Amino acid sequence: MKQVRLSSGEPVPALGQGTWYMGENRSARKEEVAALQLGLDLGLTLIDTAEMYAEGGAEQVVGEALVGRRNQAFLVSKVYPHNASRQGTLAACERSLKRLKTDRIDLYLLHWRGSCPLAETVEAFEALQRAGKIRHWGVSNLDLADMQELRGVPGGAACAANQLLYNLGRRGIEWGLLPWLRQQGAATMAYSPIEQGRLSRHKGLQDFARRHGMTAAQAALAWLLAQEGVIAIPKSAHLARVRENAAAADMTLDPAQLAELDRLFAPPTGPSALDML
Ligand SMILES: NC(=O)c1ccc[n+]([C@@H]2O[C@H](COP(=O)([O-])OP(=O)(O)OC[C@H]3O[C@@H](n4cnc5c(N)ncnc54)[C@H](OP(=O)(O)O)[C@@H]3O)[C@@H](O)[C@H]2O)c1
Repeated sequence: MKQVRLSSGEPVPALGQGTWYMGENRSARKEEVAALQLGLDLGLTLIDTAEMYAEGGAEQVVGEALVGRRNQAFLVSKVYPHNASRQGTLAACERSLKRLKTDRIDLYLLHWRGSCPLAETVEAFEALQRAGKIRHWGVSNLDLADMQELRGVPGGAACAANQLLYNLGRRGIEWGLLPWLRQQGAATMAYSPIEQGRLSRHKGLQDFARRHGMTAAQAALAWLLAQEGVIAIPKSAHLARVRENAAAADMTLDPAQLAELDRLFAPPTGPSALDML
């Protein structure tokens, strides 16, 4: 499995698992837990969740999947912007730890920017680090101007990662933000890497994938894995798709294949507003 380094230098797997929409429905719980556990077995040991997903339900699914194997996972969770004050962040983290049935989160992210000053959230993250409750901190959905502001607050340079909407059809961050993150040594976590399933149904990508012996979803993931400093976190609650997605870790696209994908999905030619879901 390819590894990507966080700004601290710690390596993490470049292909992980998402959990949005898990924990919504009690009847799906067994399959969701099994999917995450299969992913762990297959090396998808970075698991991304958030207090927002099913209002804590997804964290509970992750907690159940990690019983007896917490040490095998690199666990990412996120605080809501409306909880991101100094005290609010500490309290939200405690609630997440409880649902996750663990004593630490490996990477704790601000889910998107709200009205709380960034400096205050960073202070809270640092307090959580000192207490051993989180190991690294980062952000999500922050554009270049926000990142530059964050870089200027005390301790802001320690931001380990920015989680962003990034996939073949959403390449806007390649213009300014992604190169800047690389230069700062922060990882980019690509969310919705198969555009919530839509890229698997894209005719042009399906044709490309068929000709190169892979599925469209695998092509979308292999393309992200070819990007330096990028971690992809596909979500699937189905065992067959978890296997399919995990197999993308062994699929390397050559320069001719990457050029073909550039013709199908053009890179940006100028700045644009940050895309989000
Ligand atoms: N920071 C943020 O603001 C933010 C925003 C969005 C997402 N995220 C994170 O990123 C993760 C991934 O993004 P996402 O869940 O939005 O989208 P995604 O991973 O691009 O796609 C997930 C959807 O695609 C389906 N799928 C998975 N593998 C497939 C395959 N091989 N072929 C066809 N369909 C497949 C899944 O269905 P099944 O489950 O039925 O297989 C699910 O409906 C989230 O789960 C979450 O952890 C973060």
